[in-house]
Amino acid sequence: MSFPKNFLWGGATAANQIEGAYNVDGKGLSVTDITTAGSLEHPRMLTYKLNGKLEESPALPGAGLPEGAVGAIDSNEYYPNHVAIDFYHHYKEDIKMFADMGFKTFRLSIAWTRIFPKGDEEKPNQAGLDFYRHVFEECKKYDIEPLVTISHYEDPLYLSEKYHDWQDRKMIDMYVKYAKVLFEEYKGLVKYWLTFNEINTAVMMLDMFGNNNNSDEAYQHAYQKLHYQFVASARAVKAAHEIDPNYVVGNMICGIVDYPLTPDPKDVLKCRHDWEKNIFYCGDVQCKGKYPTFAKRLWNEHNVHLDITDQDLEDLVKGTVDIYTFSYYMSNVVTTHEVKDKVGGNFAAGAKNPYLNYSEWGWATDPTGLQYYLEVIYDRYEIPVMVVENGLGAVDQVTSDGKIHDDYRIDYLRQHIEAMQKAIDDGVDLIGYTTWGCIDLVSAGTGQMSKRYGFIYVDRDDNGEGSLKRLPKDSFYWYKKVIESQGEDLD
Ligand code: BG6
Repeated sequence: MSFPKNFLWGGATAANQIEGAYNVDGKGLSVTDITTAGSLEHPRMLTYKLNGKLEESPALPGAGLPEGAVGAIDSNEYYPNHVAIDFYHHYKEDIKMFADMGFKTFRLSIAWTRIFPKGDEEKPNQAGLDFYRHVFEECKKYDIEPLVTISHYEDPLYLSEKYHDWQDRKMIDMYVKYAKVLFEEYKGLVKYWLTFNEINTAVMMLDMFGNNNNSDEAYQHAYQKLHYQFVASARAVKAAHEIDPNYVVGNMICGIVDYPLTPDPKDVLKCRHDWEKNIFYCGDVQCKGKYPTFAKRLWNEHNVHLDITDQDLEDLVKGTVDIYTFSYYMSNVVTTHEVKDKVGGNFAAGAKNPYLNYSEWGWATDPTGLQYYLEVIYDRYEIPVMVVENGLGAVDQVTSDGKIHDDYRIDYLRQHIEAMQKAIDDGVDLIGYTTWGCIDLVSAGTGQMSKRYGFIYVDRDDNGEGSLKRLPKDSFYWYKKVIESQGEDLD
């Protein structure tokens, strides 16, 4: 059992969660820049001005800004993404540490607002283009292949206000223009691109919160947003291949595995339908180039009517992705029955699985679920697959000797690497693995720094205090060995 010779071992991040420098060198505001810190108990909030008054509301998926609101920064609030881990000024040091671990690839995203500060400018911002060029050149210095997400939860605030979070097809043109600039600009420096991070969360999350956010209106919004994003993604894929036939472009799905709680056929059917809505709906459009048959049922369930043109449908066929990529952290259990034992956590909900252990944030550790997911997906699409996020968010302690003994993280990753090995043995064409938050970063869900995923510790806390000093954890040396041995030495 071993991983393929050219397997892309590495780590993953997103611009808004690491870069900081939120208002320098011409960068415009992203939606994350008006998102406050939160915790497991308290949601992150969006801050804005409505009728001249500062207000806020929970930053839940599908929530967006209220009609007429203009995003605003409240000087009494703390915004963790404004400084994050200041990768903007530490990227050389950080990439060197990735190289020390032997990374073959580094997944990062581009902040749209560094390239087009508002989103609809005629010309891109040169300082933004230069920043990423320097980052990619630094990667190349160490033979690290950048894996670039074009949009990772950070739409320009201006576009989001003007077009109400992708409720206008003009967003397609804005996105495609932005993507084309990247494809032209970084030709020869980047090979792998992902169009939208966890595109499926637009619908997946609606049912997960039980926060009255799953009305027909919310579904209408989510499915329309997805349609425009599918078309934007397809047109970008086509443009990428025209600009450089060597480009490899993938989709990116939030891969949460669902199991039925009981053998009650109603539970089993519900589980299948959840897979269709949450996972296959987006994967089918992006990999097969057309809407699946069950799409009509999903739309009818919520009285959804979409703006779809013939041209859109043609473009979907022409813009299928080359690789399927996904994040994997946990599984969920679904049932039609009343349950007493429920999971409480951010992005995790529903019945508790008695066979699994849960993290402090309520996420179920389930390596077998990863094997299951890989096998299901590869069987369905038969294109190369990549796990582009996986990891354990946990609180780390720095001991008196300045070390971080994170054996819990090593255990988690070891089990998931073993699961990937099994899937490869089963014939899955798995081409790479980038663990999430290879360097500690701001949690997307809660805005905390204390929910750490990294091999590299960053001295910064939930209130923005700390020296930003980087420290390798025990897992740093462990992962180095894993990469060196091509996944054979997992001890
Ligand atoms: C994925 C996102 O949902 O999960 C990341 O793509 C995110 O941006 C990651 O950080 C982990 O979630 P969290 O809430 O622990 O940061």
